[in-house]
Amino acid sequence: VRIFVAGATGVLGQRLVPLLLSEGHVVAAMTRTPSKLESIVSTGAEPVLCDVYDVASLNVAITDFGPEVVIHQLTDLPDDASRIGEFGARNSRIREEGTRNLLSAARAAGASRFIAQSVAWKLSGSGALAKTYLETAVLGAGGVVLRYGQFYGPGTFFESELPEHPRIHIDQAAQQTLIALDAPSSVIEVVET
Ligand SMILES: NC(=O)c1ccc[n+]([C@@H]2O[C@H](COP(=O)([O-])OP(=O)(O)OC[C@H]3O[C@@H](n4cnc5c(N)ncnc54)[C@H](OP(=O)(O)O)[C@@H]3O)[C@@H](O)[C@H]2O)c1
Repeated sequence: VRIFVAGATGVLGQRLVPLLLSEGHVVAAMTRTPSKLESIVSTGAEPVLCDVYDVASLNVAITDFGPEVVIHQLTDLPDDASRIGEFGARNSRIREEGTRNLLSAARAAGASRFIAQSVAWKLSGSGALAKTYLETAVLGAGGVVLRYGQFYGPGTFFESELPEHPRIHIDQAAQQTLIALDAPSSVIEVVET
């Protein structure tokens, strides 16, 4: 299956891409950061340099690849958890405008499946509105919403301690994402019990 992954270099995406490739899928991996292209090439995925807010380039990139599945793993979060407050507006923007742009480009490219990252916990204020926007838009397009617990493990905000529930180890989160490839349109919780 041809799969286009937006957010391929994020903490989840960088684990997901090799799993998809190992299952025999043909994968395009998108980043907005030129310095990350080389590491994408080394995975065996097709690198795509594109900013999700550049609508024209995004449409060309997705149509050119011609995916059956588009996976949205975009977030706009800091590496340092203590700065998360400063990124609220940016992360909401990517959940709203980023999701809208990706859905529209996926539709124009004739992709038949759309899978997107959401969170399993309650947000407040504009964060809650952005989460609802993303989930409603994805389900409205017949897609699958993955509500992940708080990630922990290497590269996450919780490298050496466990976050509160809902939570999920980042490797398990990537593995369980594969379930969405064959799932009907729905909300799926990706959390440990
Ligand atoms: N459920 C959870 O607990 C959860 C979920 C997500 C993240 N986090 C935490 O957040 C921290 C940062 O994670 P991260 O590195 O995955 O997140 P990130 O820096 O927010 O990036 C995620 C992905 O989105 C892409 N992206 C962001 N803005 C973009 C834009 N305008 N156009 C195209 N692509 C764009 C990034 O591409 P680039 O390669 O260009 O940067 C990257 O592939 C980690 O500590 C992680 O644990 C937690």
